[in-house]
Amino acid sequence: MRTITFDIDRFDGSRSWTQSYSFEHDPAHTVLSCLIAIKEKQDPTLNFTASCRSAICGSCAVRVNGNAVLACDTKLDSVLKQWGSDRLQISPLGNFTVLSDLVVDWSPKIERLRTARTGLKARKEFTAETGCQQTPAEFARIQKQWDCILCGCCASECNKLTDDRRDFLEPFVYTHANRYAQDSRSAEPMLHVREMLGRGLWKCLHCMECVTKCPKQIAPAADISAMRALAYANGVTDGKGPRHAAAFRTDLENTGRLNEVRLVPRTEGLIDAATGRMSFTFRMLKSGKLSTREATKLYFVDNSPIEGLDGLRKIIRYRRAK
Ligand code: FES
Repeated sequence: MRTITFDIDRFDGSRSWTQSYSFEHDPAHTVLSCLIAIKEKQDPTLNFTASCRSAICGSCAVRVNGNAVLACDTKLDSVLKQWGSDRLQISPLGNFTVLSDLVVDWSPKIERLRTARTGLKARKEFTAETGCQQTPAEFARIQKQWDCILCGCCASECNKLTDDRRDFLEPFVYTHANRYAQDSRSAEPMLHVREMLGRGLWKCLHCMECVTKCPKQIAPAADISAMRALAYANGVTDGKGPRHAAAFRTDLENTGRLNEVRLVPRTEGLIDAATGRMSFTFRMLKSGKLSTREATKLYFVDNSPIEGLDGLRKIIRYRRAK
């Protein structure tokens, strides 16, 4: 008999512990059906949430070995193969407050979702008689964002949220804001973008965890980029974020290479760059995260044009014209 073991993180409101449950391997199992079997046959006190069992409601997300998945949509065999072990750690979503075992608190997240102003303010020409229509092509621009089921997988693994939740929102909030900002029927797309500007739109670390973890293949990082572009096109060009984007593009147009020595002062100003970045470099050197050789490379960059620069400039011109 092949035995599978789940080490499940438990929490009863005051005490945390890990409890192990072993059961017979069944290739038909999903992670959720294993949890249900454990609750029904071994331990009725185990708490988790689930409803549709069809990857629609988003309520069953948990972490398997530290990676967020939809439990109902994750075959047991696929994670056993992925991790090469018959023993898996099952934990509640990260970057959420845990209420009990695998159950997390969504209330603060929903409050933060409200900041995206998720409601369509339709253009004036739409009336009760005309309806609020859009073409299939217009709908295609926001179709993916509509797939979000609010499972929280993106938020669970977001490195920026793990670092500091005070000046950044859950990736799905940006996706929802962009859904309305890009809607062809919207009277005021910047209504949603402006809200996000003051809530970390330029603070994304580009770790792409939200993109790789979304079970619906949505790309919140791309929604963040799209709203930055919209803000820039609407004249929001001041501040570190827009300056960084402009400096980035200038470097690419000039040589095709990013020149950190010039990029940072142009983004943050000479004094902030000199004090902030230099001390950051020294901290990284001291902690062993950066070697002297790597640090030297940061400041003495090759500034010669890359091969194929003309092609890159064509791409940039093409995107700018769109
Ligand atoms: S139970 Fe609804 S998405 Fe998994």
